Amino acid sequence: MTHSCSSRTAGNKALRLAVLLIALCDFTVFSFAQQPLRTLLVGVDHRTVISLDGDWHYLVDQPPARGLYGNDGKVRDNGYALNTHPNINSGPHNDEYDFATAPTLEVPGDWNTQEPTLFRFEGVVWYQRDFDFEPRPNTRTFLHIGAANYKSFVWVNQMRICDHEGGFTPFDCEVTSALKPGSNFVVIAVDSTREVDAIPSVGIDWFNYGGLTRDVSLVSVPERFIDDYDIHLKRETTFSLPNAKTLAGYVHVVGAAAGTSITLRIPEAGVDVSLLTNAEGNAPFEVKAKKLDLWSPQDPRLYRVELTAGLDKLSDDIGFRDIRVEGTRILLNGKAIFLQGANVHAEAPYRTGRVCTDEDVRNIFGFLKDLNANFVRLAHYPHDERMERMADRDGIMVWSEIPLWQHISFDKPEVYAKASFMLSEMIRRDRNKASVILWSISNETANNPTRTEFLTNLANEARRLDSTRLITSALNTAHRKGNEMVLDYPLANVLDVVGVNEYIGWYDKRPEDADAVQWTLPEKPVLLSEFGAEAKFGVHGGIDQRWAEEQQVNVYQHQFVMLNKIPQLRGLVPWILMDFRSPGRNIPKLQDGFNRKGLLSEKGEKKQAFFLFQKVYADHSVGKAE
Ligand code: GCU
Repeated sequence: MTHSCSSRTAGNKALRLAVLLIALCDFTVFSFAQQPLRTLLVGVDHRTVISLDGDWHYLVDQPPARGLYGNDGKVRDNGYALNTHPNINSGPHNDEYDFATAPTLEVPGDWNTQEPTLFRFEGVVWYQRDFDFEPRPNTRTFLHIGAANYKSFVWVNQMRICDHEGGFTPFDCEVTSALKPGSNFVVIAVDSTREVDAIPSVGIDWFNYGGLTRDVSLVSVPERFIDDYDIHLKRETTFSLPNAKTLAGYVHVVGAAAGTSITLRIPEAGVDVSLLTNAEGNAPFEVKAKKLDLWSPQDPRLYRVELTAGLDKLSDDIGFRDIRVEGTRILLNGKAIFLQGANVHAEAPYRTGRVCTDEDVRNIFGFLKDLNANFVRLAHYPHDERMERMADRDGIMVWSEIPLWQHISFDKPEVYAKASFMLSEMIRRDRNKASVILWSISNETANNPTRTEFLTNLANEARRLDSTRLITSALNTAHRKGNEMVLDYPLANVLDVVGVNEYIGWYDKRPEDADAVQWTLPEKPVLLSEFGAEAKFGVHGGIDQRWAEEQQVNVYQHQFVMLNKIPQLRGLVPWILMDFRSPGRNIPKLQDGFNRKGLLSEKGEKKQAFFLFQKVYADHSVGKAE
């Protein structure tokens, strides 16, 4: 993945600086003097790994976290990272911590819902665990971290390995030179402190769960190995089903000289080809499949794909489909579609806390199926890869988003560099997931030129990274003229699909006022990416009694009157499938720390509105594909 300054608008000095920063980082990041490789291994969940999930010792580094940050604010390599043990019985006095006898937290998982004293803790928690390892000759080993919120600093056997910023995307750090035969240890400091120039920034309407929130493992690969690949249905200028048999993409091999051979096999599609790498270790390709059933919600067909590069072998399960926009229609494999879904936060049903198990994912998709949904918006950040894998298998189309949520420091080049990096991490991890049809670059950001330029550049970058998917964003800045709502902002021009967030009937006006509202919207496919109202499960009353389930239904029924008048409406995405934790929601007995706009409670209790949508989606009674 290379970035070249030339592709950007000439005059934009700040932006050029940001692009330079990005070009410098790319995916191969060398941290400080140690030079271990940090990358993102595509398809790592299909590799054989040594799982490091389980109990990790921990200690809390109370703010200002002097265990991690020295007085100069720099990260300390000579603190807890050394994992020394105190001289208990005899002097001299040394360190006052001991991971070996410290309590434990489970990984993957957030610390907030595991340890009551850490429920509201935002700051630095140190994780440590021992592991045995037998290095094999001619292999390289990476520490894979599915996600850690928000900043993480990694040491193995006292050697600083890598740092990472961003709470929702994976990273892989090379530990080959740090490992030794027998017993080893890893220490990871995770800092969940919210910062103004972070992504997301300080004000968020969800719970800031901290920790090693997704799987951690050791991945050993041959010296030359496949770190990235893109295998998709070739995007022709016009789609024609009979001709939809050409696959295209690339396979990248780290450490491969030009002319290195790679085989790509897809037995069920009659594909078995040899490719050769160029000087960058990349092998772009186009190949015709003998037979190809395209992926769709009705038939979520996945193909076993086998890649071999020298000693490295990797397989994946990939679906092939074409997604595009034509006028105001969204076409999947040439057919107009209407998206019926819900928003979902990565919060586990029943137990709350971050989603990190197969069971969590099964529960969420069970509710989506029950709702008759064919679509899910994964708000507001990339979710656990299990979600996309399940969506691929279940035929649920996906909107995936990076957390540029509301107030972001759009005027800062270093923030653009972070955003661009998060975007490329999101796209790299999930580019081979057929279910993912939309990349979202932001949610509810204020309309001003600095923000619009920032997001316009990000949208163009997303297209450069992946020209096969649609780019979107959720906008909530429509302005009102009497009963008319007008959304005519420049950002919509760079989007393929426009997401609209509105809360008429809850934050804005009375439910019945929606009936008379007329929308003026861009001539593009529009998704109602958020709408809804709060209701506490089990609270019943009149249709005007706020917090009652009947009121929530009433808000939606008036919304449907309004929405059925929007000709370019191509999808419904109510906010939100389940009630979720949000620290700012504190009305006792009603909210108690939860946003209550769910169609279900956090315990999976179905509110009346759930059954309303279940029926609307079964009858396809709101909205049309064309
Ligand atoms: C916003 C926002 C959500 C938030 C929701 C709400 O639209 O995008 O993150 O939770 O409104 O207020 O409930």
